[in-house]
Amino acid sequence: MVTAEKLYEKLKNIQVGNPICQFTREHCELLLPTIERIEDLKREKNAIILVHNYVAPQIFYSVADYTGDSYGLSKKAKESDADIIIFAAVRFMAETAKILNPEKTVLDPNPNGGCSLADGITAQDVIRLRKEFPGYTFVCYINTTAEVKAQCDVCVTSSNVYTIIEKIPNDKIYFLPDKLMGENVINHLKEKGVNKDIRLWDGTCYVHEEYQPESIDQVRRNFEGVEILVHPECNSSVVGKADYVGSTSQMLNHVRESQRDSFFLLTECGLTGLLQSEFPEKTFAGSCTLCKYMKSNSLEDILNVLENPSPHSIIEIDPETQRRALNCVNQMFRYAD
Ligand code: 13P
Ligand code: SF4
Repeated sequence: MVTAEKLYEKLKNIQVGNPICQFTREHCELLLPTIERIEDLKREKNAIILVHNYVAPQIFYSVADYTGDSYGLSKKAKESDADIIIFAAVRFMAETAKILNPEKTVLDPNPNGGCSLADGITAQDVIRLRKEFPGYTFVCYINTTAEVKAQCDVCVTSSNVYTIIEKIPNDKIYFLPDKLMGENVINHLKEKGVNKDIRLWDGTCYVHEEYQPESIDQVRRNFEGVEILVHPECNSSVVGKADYVGSTSQMLNHVRESQRDSFFLLTECGLTGLLQSEFPEKTFAGSCTLCKYMKSNSLEDILNVLENPSPHSIIEIDPETQRRALNCVNQMFRYAD
């Protein structure tokens, strides 16, 4: 069980945004009764808590049983023998855990767990597109609803999208819903000499679409030797200037292994804070943009779903949608493993 002192040790170096907004020992002490109650209920109910890398650090470093990117957490959900899975992230991630565990209780503590990508396309859109593009393999980013996954052939995440699309034997691919990620896949395959006909849906992540390549030029001018890390949801002119492109966990692992000591990140700023905590001897800067959906998670809501889940927080998926969406997600595990 975390103590106020241990929590403070993890949080004290996090300095994203305004440097005066830092965690204090007193703040950590105030969080402790809620954390202790959550830990007691987890044991009592055989529950686990999965926490995405973007979620607020006081949650990430206190009650999480597993942390990671959307691929890593989906794997943890798949392998779990807990009776209850609480997914502190956004709705589509909790839904994916339910797709993988239809017999378990999956709880989403986030009252506002949308995602501009997942909310930008419906199952009806995909049904229409499949008529328009017969013979295409429909590949969906994990940032989609269960209903959309149920209409697609293969799911991917930011950690495996390049390799899975390359491996799919069909040369005709419809990738949805992230247009910018799709453009990055097209460029990547072109560079490798792989020729595929890839069609794209016009969705974007409202956080990552904002980044522009000029900020990279400026950072390189001002900080010699800085390593630039970006998420593949950024546009291709940003990705083209980066030193490393990867999922949130891949970026974390890359920093762990890198010989450099200063980094600039273009992704949701929760990751910058996490890296500041994990590697206090290294220097991090980043464009500090928050995902309002990921940041809607709170310790209080996690406690509430453990004590008395509201109907909204209990993930329910109809059996036919679950069965079809599971095929799509399992295809990802087959290609990725
Ligand atoms: P990761 O799978 O890289 O953690 O990304 C999820 C996401 O929503 C990024 O915006
Ligand atoms: Fe969705 Fe973008 Fe938030 Fe990730 S950062 S959850 S893609 S809105």
